[in-house]
This record gives sequence, structure tokens and C-alpha cells, in this order.
Amino acid sequence: MTAERVVLDSKPRNDVRGCAIELAAVTRHYGAGPEAPGLHGIDLRIRAGEFVAITGPSGSGKTTLLNLIGGLDVPDSGSVRVGSLDLTTARPAELASFRLRQVGIVFQSYALIPELTVFNNVALPALLAGVSGKQLTARVGELLSGVGLAGAGERRPHQLSGGERQRVAIARALVNRPALIVADEPTGNLDSAGGSAVLELLAGANKSGMTLVLVSHDRDVAARAGRQVTIIDGRLG
Ligand SMILES: Nc1ncnc2c1ncn2[C@@H]1O[C@H](COP(=O)(O)OP(=O)(O)OP(=O)(O)O)[C@@H](O)[C@H]1O
Ligand SMILES: [Mg+2]
Repeated sequence: MTAERVVLDSKPRNDVRGCAIELAAVTRHYGAGPEAPGLHGIDLRIRAGEFVAITGPSGSGKTTLLNLIGGLDVPDSGSVRVGSLDLTTARPAELASFRLRQVGIVFQSYALIPELTVFNNVALPALLAGVSGKQLTARVGELLSGVGLAGAGERRPHQLSGGERQRVAIARALVNRPALIVADEPTGNLDSAGGSAVLELLAGANKSGMTLVLVSHDRDVAARAGRQVTIIDGRLG
């Protein structure tokens, strides 16, 4: 595995000033009433460059929290700041730019586009960010070799194993050199060898300076983080 290549090739963008995260009094309820499921009064600070694992029982609110940090959802009340941006007051264009350029998102189910080749899955966010031509080819090529898939660019996702798909998803998450990676159970569908490879890649990205927030049920995976945060019934444990 060539995690070092990812470290070298995917340093966070110089124009992104760190990626500290601050949630203050955040609530996100699904439904009405104080007992509705969701998150209740979350205060959480994550330093730029930290590797934090979010753990907790099923249904406790881990994905809800990650979606708020990644700008995929907005709280009912409270604020979510990532770097210099307040996601709760950001204009739609700022939020779209944040999601495209400053955060890389990795899901348990990979979320690759089945019709696109591996190369084009990785290239798509960079294309949307205005990278093209030789620069794009070089960047995607470097990332694919960094995740150990140099020869797989013309394949489609269904022709890959789960572990290989997740490595493609990580390359895609890194392609715009984000300051922050959020990963929701990224090893949840993988066997232990596939999971270890994926974890090494994410840890390598964190070592290169990216803030990493990772949700995992797996104690061994969570133990790799610098800090563990537990959520129980929508509250920090
Ligand atoms: N869109 C939704 N509509 C209604 N309820 C929801 C919705 N999304 C999540 N919930 C509920 O909110 C709570 C928290 O869900 P969340 O997906 O954040 O949990 P989780 O900790 O990620 O669980 P898991 O470990 O099973 O992935 C759960 O009770 C869930 O059923
Ligand atoms: Mg979840």
C-alpha cells in the first residue's frame, strides 16, 4: 500500500486556513417535541489537523452529526463553524463551494457513480472545480497510484471489490485537496485487510495535515484516532 504517496500528493490547499470545527448548542430533531430523535444541544470543538473518531450505538446520531459537519444538512438551532465559514449562515454559493473544495466525504456504501469509469469518478469533483487537461490527468493518476489502483482507471465500480471501491472513493474525496475529510463507517462493509488499507489511507491524509472526522462502530478503528467522542441518544457521552 502506498499511503505515503497520498500524503505527498494531497497536501491541503494553501488557501484554506486550517480546518478547526466548532459546533455550539446544535440541535437537529427529526420530528416534533423534545424526545424526537436527532441531536440535542451538542457542543464540540475539533482542532485543525485533529483525527477524531465518533462512536456510539446505532441510532445515536453519528451520521446526523457528520452530515452537519460536512455541510450536507443544517441544524434546527445552534451554529456549525468549519474553518472561517459558519455553515449555518453561509450563502448557498459559499456552501456549495465548501462542499466541493474544502471537504472530502467518504460513505460506508462508497457512493460511486456506476456509469462512470474509476478515472472519471475521481476526476468529477476536480472538473467541477475547474481543473482540466494535463493537470487533471496528472492529479487523478497520482491519486489512483496513491491508493494502489494505478491500472484500474478504465474499469467501472462494479468491476472492483468493496475495498477497491472505497479506495476510489477516498481518491475522489482527496482530489480537490480538502482541508477536512469526513468518513461515515468507511470500513463498515470491508473485510479486515480491506478495512486496514482504507484506514491507512485516511490516516495518511490526516498525517499530511487534513482534519479527519471518522464515524466507526469498530473499536480498533476508533482507537487509531487521536481522540474519541461518544454520542448516546443524541448527546455527547
Ligand atoms: N431522515 C430522517 N427522518 C427521521 N428520522 C431520522 C432521519 N435520519 C435519522 N433519523 C433518526 O435519528 C436518529 C439518529 O440517526 P443517525 O442516522 O444519525 O444515527 P447513527 O448513530 O448514524 O446510527 P447507525 O450507527 O445505525 O448508522 C435515529 O433515531 C434515526 O432513526
Ligand atoms: Mg450512521
